[in-house]
Amino acid sequence: MPFPQTRMRRLRATRALRGLVRETEISAADFVYPMFVASGLDRREPIEAMPGIEHLSIAHAVDEVGELAALGVPAVLLFGIPASKDAEGSGAWDDEGIVQLATRAIKEAHPDTIVIADLCLCEYTDHGHCGVLRGSSVDNDATLELLARTAVSQARAGADIIAPSDMMDGRVGVIRQALDEDGLTDTPILAYSSKFASAFYGPFREAAGSTPSFGDRRGYQMDPANGAEAVRESKLDLDEGADMLMVKPALPYLDVIRRVKDETGVPLAAYNVSGEYAMVKAAAAAGYLDERATVLETLTGIRRAGADVIITYHAKDAARWLQ
Ligand code: PBG
Repeated sequence: MPFPQTRMRRLRATRALRGLVRETEISAADFVYPMFVASGLDRREPIEAMPGIEHLSIAHAVDEVGELAALGVPAVLLFGIPASKDAEGSGAWDDEGIVQLATRAIKEAHPDTIVIADLCLCEYTDHGHCGVLRGSSVDNDATLELLARTAVSQARAGADIIAPSDMMDGRVGVIRQALDEDGLTDTPILAYSSKFASAFYGPFREAAGSTPSFGDRRGYQMDPANGAEAVRESKLDLDEGADMLMVKPALPYLDVIRRVKDETGVPLAAYNVSGEYAMVKAAAAAGYLDERATVLETLTGIRRAGADVIITYHAKDAARWLQ
């Protein structure tokens, strides 16, 4: 029955009515907070393009995790900034590497917090690409073995979840096999399955010092125009043994989040990336947007699109606002 019998405004009249019929809830329990832990650092160092986010020493990272736990944020995603880089990215699988040391320290102080180790070579290679080079392109199969070695080292250090973000073909299967052979059969893999070649990673690359020294990542990350391919990537990662999938970035890809969720039904994370964060922070600082309302609306939209988990630099603020 149309208007005037039907009046959609009836259920919008009060805060309590709106709460009663709300379809999507966001909660700190769904957030993952990314952190940048830097080798040889003994203080916090601001990251210019990401106001409020800092390079942390291991001790500060441990403090930060305590704060997050008190706010109800259950998980962190660790990125490491090594002291030195080389052609192969050997710092990634160093058992005394920055992510390994930070993982041990965090798990010792806060055993209930979920430590997710980002698995990629780009922070560790001197050329900034996500794998080893052959000529001017990234050698897929030669990179797989290095990723597998890194995954085992991270999991041995105590990482609860391994999250490969490199976009090499076949990496999930190789990582699963390496973990299993090492007895790490219970360590889940969160695959960055639909990782697009995005302009929104700019601030992160400044933070991680991982801007490619030549070329770009379009030869391995996905073309932003492709949705059906994202579904195919997701299904391949599941076949190889992924436990959870990811779509990244989040906001320009909300349709991809919905498609992947509908077509796979598995636990899905969305990464609200550095550039998405920087846009909101810049607009809020200029007085163009209300930060709190913008962030909560954004996170609600990502959940409504179908994400179970949201990886976001806003996690600490949002958790506070939701309390
Ligand atoms: C590493 C990696 C990147 C991000 C997460 N893992 C950067 C890239 O692919 O260049 C981006 C995260 C962000 O922008 O917040 N491969």
